Amino acid sequence: MALSINGRRLPLLLSVAGLAALGSAALAQGAATFAEQAEAGKAAYALNCASCHGDNLQGLTGPTLRGNAFLGKWGAGAKTAGDLYAYIHNNMPPGASGQIPDETHAALVAFIMRENRGSAPAPLAPDPVKLAYGSYLVELVELLTVEAEPVAGVFELLSEALEELRNGAATGGFLRSYELQLLHHTGFHPQLDACAQCARPLQPEDMGFLEPRLGRILCSTCKPTSLDVVSLHSTTLATLQLLRDQRLAEARTQPLNSTTATEAAELLGHLLALHLPRPLRSVRLIPALSQ
Ligand code: HEC
Ligand SMILES: [Zn+2]
Repeated sequence: MALSINGRRLPLLLSVAGLAALGSAALAQGAATFAEQAEAGKAAYALNCASCHGDNLQGLTGPTLRGNAFLGKWGAGAKTAGDLYAYIHNNMPPGASGQIPDETHAALVAFIMRENRGSAPAPLAPDPVKLAYGSYLVELVELLTVEAEPVAGVFELLSEALEELRNGAATGGFLRSYELQLLHHTGFHPQLDACAQCARPLQPEDMGFLEPRLGRILCSTCKPTSLDVVSLHSTTLATLQLLRDQRLAEARTQPLNSTTATEAAELLGHLLALHLPRPLRSVRLIPALSQ
């Protein structure tokens, strides 16, 4: 697979509950915050690492973390940012890595990457945020295809998505389009244009109502009475139909207003949770890295 990140994923954290909460606002920030993250890493480095690796990463009792000696082991081609994260997370500082929060470890990776960029012949590696999104794209495919035979179209979709992620930020439009297409390929796609109970077409003035436990969208007449029903504006449903049928490159530039973005993220969060055999682990990393 194109980006299995050397067979490893970034530290896979917690539950799928966070998925719905991942509004597209948080999702769309992406790489813009790499600089801030690296800056936070700089402070953490001075506090936890400089005593052994030197104020300028030149190396003291610990090896140098910059230049060719370092890049030969950890640069693009040798390892990914995910590998570096895993190493630091598990080993640094020696004997005390567990005392440093995961976000701080991620910030340290960003800092080390930034410091090496000047001396690297090519960009060191994808930035951690994109890597985290890459993990998410891969993990979704893995989980939705566990039981099934290789599903036609899924791996093409995944490689298109990873390619597109290389071209730009993971916007809400991009993520929702990918999720919908994946659900479509694996046979779990929701009916977006008509009530799943009475089959009445949903009109522009109608609201749709998701029944989370069954993953069905119903009209106002068939609307379930349970408390956890999720209301969806018709514009959200129309936008989702558009995103489902678009190429990912187009979907990535599709602007979503905040209501649509929130409702779409919530809907897809529920639908995915319904079909995944276990909670997604990559999901917690994304907001942590995007802050
Ligand atoms: C007490 C001293 C000490 C502290 C503090 C320390 N390190 Fe290290 N670090 C080492 C030593 C020694 C090695 C080499 C370990 C080995 O080769 O097994 C190392 C190796 C590394 C490597 C791999 C370098 C290579 O050449 O492969 C990285 C990356 C790293 N440290 C990052 C960090 C970061 C980030 C911190 C702060 C969170 C940190 N270290 C804190 C002593 C330290
Ligand atoms: Zn109905």
